[in-house]
Amino acid sequence: MQTKIKTLVKKRRAIILAHNYQPPEIQDIADLCGDSLELSIKAARTDAEVIVFCGVHFMAETASILSPHKTVLLPRKDAGCLMADMIEPVGLQIMMDKLPPMPVVTYVNSTAAVKAISTICCTSANAVDIVNSLDADELIMTPDKNLALYTASQTNKKIHTWDGYCPTHDRLTPEDVYHAKQAYPGAVFMAHPECRPEVLALADAIRSTSGMIRYAKESESASFIVGTEVGLLYPLKKANPDKFFYPASTKMLCKNMKKISLEDVARSLESLEGEVKVPENIRRPAFRAVQRMLDLSLSK
Ligand code: 13P
Ligand code: SF4
Repeated sequence: MQTKIKTLVKKRRAIILAHNYQPPEIQDIADLCGDSLELSIKAARTDAEVIVFCGVHFMAETASILSPHKTVLLPRKDAGCLMADMIEPVGLQIMMDKLPPMPVVTYVNSTAAVKAISTICCTSANAVDIVNSLDADELIMTPDKNLALYTASQTNKKIHTWDGYCPTHDRLTPEDVYHAKQAYPGAVFMAHPECRPEVLALADAIRSTSGMIRYAKESESASFIVGTEVGLLYPLKKANPDKFFYPASTKMLCKNMKKISLEDVARSLESLEGEVKVPENIRRPAFRAVQRMLDLSLSK
């Protein structure tokens, strides 16, 4: 299957991008694995004709927003994101109408239609920088309330939150963390900003997925409790073979991130099945919000 995929990648002049939560065999055939920010940058810059996105729907949509003339394939159309589905443009518009005019910062884990009515996007890697860059003391942040509360704790700005969350991260409780700390004494606890505030209060480091990989590499510690989706254990161990990684809880599994198989990737490359395309009237305003974020992150 791997050889078949390699041949098809060449034939289609394709690139395979995979999120850090994807199954090991998918990460192993990818041209680039990364967090949402790294994958968006690559999607904007590649000269490949076809982008096979191994992740969830909003990630493929973002690639299509940035590279409208390329064919973007999501090998499993049903790989969605429960948090992205927690907000719709109508609801956001109602919230905006109730408040005085202010910027709307939307997490990339959202649909293109929601991005289209937002001022700027952010990812878990750059949320604080994005919010600090805005020339406003008050703003709306959607859809993740946990990321918004974490960002608010790192700035002096007033942030209006939307009541969305990632079920995979929100599931982690302080009790789970206490148990893990008891089981692995001395291990460093790394948490993703999608976790609840009471969990983040227990963390030694709060990072995006790729931020955790870098942190573990640079840290002098040898063992880590990982407060994010369990798929991250694979690239963590790959990048740090001599270190030890333990899930904060095995409940932290995102089923949507596990849907794509090697067979799906091969089928999609063969038949160009699973194309994700954003209509121009939504893509153009959504592009503005995503590009503003990239301009800011790349200039740093
Ligand atoms: P990052 O890899 O950008 O930290 O995102 C985490 C996530 O939940 C993606 O679905
Ligand atoms: Fe969405 Fe959470 Fe799954 Fe990421 S881990 S795709 S935010 S539900």
